[in-house]
Amino acid sequence: MESSSLHSTSGLMSKLSGTIVLLLFLLSCSSFPSAEAYDALDPNGNITIKWDVISWTPDGYVAVVTMFNFQQYRHIQSPGWTLGWTWAKKEVIWSMIGSQTTEQGDCSRYKGNTPHCCKKDPTVVDLLPGTPYNQQIANCCKGGVLNSWVQDPANAASSFQVSVGAAGTSNKTVRLPKNFTLKAPGPGYTCGPAKIVRSTKFVSADKRRTTQALMTWNVTCTYSQFLAQKTPTCCVSLSSFYNDTIVRCPTCTCGCQNNATDTGGCVQADSPHLAQVVAGSGKSSSNTPLVQCTSHMCPIRIHWHVKLNYKEYWRVKITITNFNYRMNYTQWNLVVQHPNFDNVTQLFSFNYKSLTPYAGLNDTAMLWGVKFYNDFLSEAGPYGNVQSELLFRKDQSTFTFEKGWAFPRRIYFNGDNCVMPPPDAYPWLPNASPQPILPGLVTFVPIVASTLLFLAFV
Ligand SMILES: *[C@@H]1O[C@H](CO)[C@@H](O)[C@H](O)[C@H]1NC(C)=O
Ligand SMILES: *[C@@H]1O[C@H](CO)[C@@H](O)[C@H](O)[C@H]1NC(C)=O
Ligand SMILES: *[C@@H]1O[C@H](CO)[C@@H](O)[C@H](O)[C@H]1NC(C)=O
Ligand SMILES: *[C@@H]1O[C@H](CO)[C@@H](O)[C@H](O)[C@H]1NC(C)=O
Ligand SMILES: *[C@@H]1O[C@H](CO)[C@@H](O)[C@H](O)[C@H]1NC(C)=O
Ligand SMILES: *[C@@H]1O[C@H](CO)[C@@H](O)[C@H](O)[C@H]1NC(C)=O
Ligand SMILES: *[C@@H]1O[C@H](CO)[C@@H](O)[C@H](O)[C@H]1NC(C)=O
Ligand SMILES: *[C@@H]1O[C@H](CO)[C@@H](O)[C@H](O)[C@H]1NC(C)=O
Ligand SMILES: *[C@@H]1O[C@H](CO)[C@@H](O)[C@H](O)[C@H]1NC(C)=O
Repeated sequence: MESSSLHSTSGLMSKLSGTIVLLLFLLSCSSFPSAEAYDALDPNGNITIKWDVISWTPDGYVAVVTMFNFQQYRHIQSPGWTLGWTWAKKEVIWSMIGSQTTEQGDCSRYKGNTPHCCKKDPTVVDLLPGTPYNQQIANCCKGGVLNSWVQDPANAASSFQVSVGAAGTSNKTVRLPKNFTLKAPGPGYTCGPAKIVRSTKFVSADKRRTTQALMTWNVTCTYSQFLAQKTPTCCVSLSSFYNDTIVRCPTCTCGCQNNATDTGGCVQADSPHLAQVVAGSGKSSSNTPLVQCTSHMCPIRIHWHVKLNYKEYWRVKITITNFNYRMNYTQWNLVVQHPNFDNVTQLFSFNYKSLTPYAGLNDTAMLWGVKFYNDFLSEAGPYGNVQSELLFRKDQSTFTFEKGWAFPRRIYFNGDNCVMPPPDAYPWLPNASPQPILPGLVTFVPIVASTLLFLAFV
């Protein structure tokens, strides 16, 4: 990997600051009541997996399994979900519609008809779009994509049908599957035990007849960023019209570029071999990001620019930049916390919904792209960014440009917390004096001037 001499000389410094950033990040992850699977901005968020037994068979049952994504802003994008469980006894899967297991396993004890899967712990994946109609059921075959509840409720569920053999044939003898695992496709979700619940009622299309499942059980899975990855994936940079300083993402937020063994390296944006590097390294580990070389090394950067000040309003420009050569983000979203979101007046070219995780808390908004316009955040490169402007109405009793008030308190990209610069590095108002909180960190703000990046902000 090529790395500029400036970066190798500042190697120790960036390593140190990287450690501090990671430390702060881990602290912020675990500062909630329970570190595992609790998101203060979406306290009830979960994925519920429901099994409805729709008929008994001579040696088991047929069930429709539906996954509902009840998370407000966290979705599962391509390459999609993977669902696993462990059978309680010697069950097999005779057949499936709308999905398949990744392995058949050892079915040698079956003569004649061979089951679809004989593994004790089957792993199921969705079928791809374009599956023949006779292998589809409603809500299947989307390549495992599960959209979020707020953004696209019509596509927030995913279903398949499974025919289970060597199983109980009544609601007294069926044994519930155990140890559910949900991957997206990486780690992050933890699933609870299956619980028998009231049987689901199905209403016919003309609403004139109701049928019900013979038996229903639910499994609830919750997400924890802490489980999903130990390093951040996203960072925030800041600027304002009242101060020339661009406060960059903290150095080494997501890795350090001077040491190739740390993160697997990066690609220079102007490298003449760019296309080859991206294509060549693609296949082996296509889920690990291949990022453009930056001081922060994050796949995603959110830039918040305080752009204009009017008498009764003020205006912010938000730019999301993708530095990952291996990822197009479909249906991306942002969650932003700022006290002025109780009075956002106008929003250009992004969708918006106010999130109120608790009664009275009204400072959090979810933003996402407009369909067919900017809901697709392209891989790193000339098209790898989306932007919007927000117009806030001032509440004269709270509004101020001092003490960094105009900057966001917290930002999530696709549900993952983005690392903010330390508060004492925020752009000051001329003549204002800051209150250093972590004086050591200021020195780590990178001094590398990059005209290109600057231009991207304006
Ligand atoms: C899962 O989410 C739904 C919808 O928000 C909620 O009604 C339900 O109580 C949640 N389940 C659990 C176990 O948290
Ligand atoms: C099993 O079915 C019987 C009637 O067939 C019903 O009374 C009972 O509530 C069912 N039990 C469960 C756990 O669904
Ligand atoms: C479920 O997982 C736990 C922990 O991973 C393991 O101890 C247990 O044996 C598993 N149960 C089954 C039925 O595989
Ligand atoms: C089971 O899941 C269904 C679908 O998500 C939901 O409507 C129902 O309330 C759940 N039941 C319980 C007891 O969680
Ligand atoms: C990179 O990191 C490894 C292990 O942390 C270390 O042994 C090596 O000396 C480092 N190389 C440079 C160039 O800093
Ligand atoms: C991203 O999308 C573009 C256009 O659809 C495609 O050419 C490119 O291969 C995609 N990149 C990745 C990493 O999937
Ligand atoms: C929260 O903000 C929304 C949008 O500005 C507004 O409609 C709603 O009344 C506010 N709710 C509270 C409790 O302030
Ligand atoms: C929003 O702005 C209007 C006009 O300034 C004000 O009357 C109202 O109280 C503000 N709403 C909140 C929730 O601050
Ligand atoms: C702009 O803010 C920086 C802190 O980020 C501060 O060092 C600098 O003095 C400020 N510039 C002016 C003109 O106040």
